[in-house]
Amino acid sequence: MSNEPPALGLKQEMYIIKGESAFTYLPIIRELETRGVKVISFGIGQPDFPTPAHIREAAKDALDQGFTGYTETAGIPELREAIADYLNSRYGSDVKPDEIIVTTGTKTAIFMAGAAYLRPGDEAIVIEPAYYAYSQITKFFGAKPKVVTMDFEPGKGFSLDLGKVEDAVTDRTRLLFLNNPNNPTGLVLGRKQVEELMDVAARKGVVVVADEIYDNFVYDGDFGSTISHAGWRDNLIYINGFSKTFSMTGWRLGYIVARREVVNRMLDLAVSVYSCATSIAQKAGVAALRGDWSPVRSMIDEFKRRRDAIYSLLKDVPGFEAYKPQGAFYMFPRVSGLLKAAGFNTTEELVNKLLYEKGVLVLPGNTFSESMGRNFVRFSFATSLDNIVEGVKRIAEFADKVMRR
Ligand SMILES: Cc1ncc(COP(=O)(O)O)c(C=O)c1O
Repeated sequence: MSNEPPALGLKQEMYIIKGESAFTYLPIIRELETRGVKVISFGIGQPDFPTPAHIREAAKDALDQGFTGYTETAGIPELREAIADYLNSRYGSDVKPDEIIVTTGTKTAIFMAGAAYLRPGDEAIVIEPAYYAYSQITKFFGAKPKVVTMDFEPGKGFSLDLGKVEDAVTDRTRLLFLNNPNNPTGLVLGRKQVEELMDVAARKGVVVVADEIYDNFVYDGDFGSTISHAGWRDNLIYINGFSKTFSMTGWRLGYIVARREVVNRMLDLAVSVYSCATSIAQKAGVAALRGDWSPVRSMIDEFKRRRDAIYSLLKDVPGFEAYKPQGAFYMFPRVSGLLKAAGFNTTEELVNKLLYEKGVLVLPGNTFSESMGRNFVRFSFATSLDNIVEGVKRIAEFADKVMRR
């Protein structure tokens, strides 16, 4: 504990909000590596591929042409047109360019949604396990995350019971955060379920914040987008971004789609928060959407091979209840048997043991769900096949010893 007095005037929510575990471990990995440990990281969720060359070229051209000033807050028209064309051709929607705001990443879009809708005392439904930002942002605005948990079935993975979502709605519910495909479980909801969910939300008067950043990472089954829903303008804040699909995490580019009135109000907030997304990143975004998608397709094929590899290796490791995630690039196996056999009370103890003794990083499940996550860990398979083989081998050495003693 620090002996310094509390910072003058810092509001209470600044102490409630927590950091992201994937980022917390970065300096620890760096420190271990300076000591000569070769860490295999299943931690952070970012594609380990360079941004495709034609996208980088577009940014360089923009830079050389001096396209370095502010842009309009909503984003350059050619990018908003490209986004509308992408969504409409892919999802059969009818989005107009003036129903789009380009943001500095999907995270900014999540923040904007919270800022626009949540008041102290409100509730936001968070379907857990979930990306940590939804509950953090909800709490930051003085509202309460109302948790609905997915069901876990060994060998099969996760599923969502829509009845539970409906039951969670109260007269204080403002938002429902939906992440499809899901981080950290890899669950993909199909068209029918998404339609049903949108109908439930409409019937109950709840606004859906749909984060579909992994919409291109679907390996099995059918994926349903909320933007395909005919009545999306009634109650949808659609969010997506360039970080994962085009391997552009550091470029900070995302977007919001909503009905015009909502967009116009949000623009007046956005101009005071970030003015506009980075000018040259926006030009790169146009090249990404309009250009050659073959690098994206090869990357997704590689992710599918990795998904298959990590599943087939991990399912034979005692104590890890592996399953085949249908999308995103994460698996969230239950490890309660291993925790028990090792005498660990928390998932962090297991994570630290694997990190410091075996040089393998997985993330503790409780950062994705305080209620059910303590028996789970998250693997990101955004790492090479060689690393997957070596990482699971090291984990198996530990698990075999613990489970067979
Ligand atoms: C579900 C989800 N939403 C949003 C983000 C952040 O995306 P961005 O880089 O566009 O801010 C991530 C990154 O891990 C994510 O997993």
